[in-house]
Amino acid sequence: MSTSKTYQPLGLEWNKPITNREAKMQIAQAVAMRVLAGEVVGIGSGSTSFLTVLALGERVQREKLSISVVPTSIEMELACHAVGLTVHSDVPLSIDCCFDGADEIDPSGRLIKGRGGALYREKLVFAATRKRLIVADKSKDVEHLGCKFPVPVEVKPQWVRLAYDRLHQMPHVEQVALRMGLAKDGPVVTESGNLLLDVKLSKITTEDEHALNSIPGVVCIGVFSGFDFERIAD
Ligand code: A5P
Repeated sequence: MSTSKTYQPLGLEWNKPITNREAKMQIAQAVAMRVLAGEVVGIGSGSTSFLTVLALGERVQREKLSISVVPTSIEMELACHAVGLTVHSDVPLSIDCCFDGADEIDPSGRLIKGRGGALYREKLVFAATRKRLIVADKSKDVEHLGCKFPVPVEVKPQWVRLAYDRLHQMPHVEQVALRMGLAKDGPVVTESGNLLLDVKLSKITTEDEHALNSIPGVVCIGVFSGFDFERIAD
């Protein structure tokens, strides 16, 4: 192509400055080396996962490694294509390993996830995978869950008003906000076509988790508990 314009494949830019970039790069490099030839790899969302995709793409090119991937979000799917990874168009019958970030991690290994908006797909891939890696720098450690981030709750659009009302009736709920788009009018729509309610709770007990999951219209909540995983930190 004879042009002076620079061409960059779509998906190679992160949409904002990456915090703790050095620490996240270290994690990304370590995780890229953990993937084995022939594996089906679940690709999480967030900037640490994004850097891991870049590192994995480099390794695949360098070593001619044969792997395939299942991304959890549109932005990660674009990134995977941009670095030349083989992306499954359908969900395969098994996922060997996955990596994904976290917004908070408590001392018992419960997570808050979903800041990036791909919550339900993240939980599906996490639950479907045999070997789970959480890529989270030390800034994600918290004494108790919910102290920095609200819990994202993914809800069927037709049920969002009912869910919003029910959430306000729960004991530890302090605030509920429909997540709004920044470069789009109206609410954020998830990869699964749902809306997100960000729920600030004073504490999150097991009963709260059950209660959140039982609200009609709720597809998935951003508390991940009871999962085995390995934490890769800086
Ligand atoms: C995405 O929905 C979240 O679950 C992310 O995994 C989380 O926000 C981590 O983001 P960073 O890697 O950018 O910190």
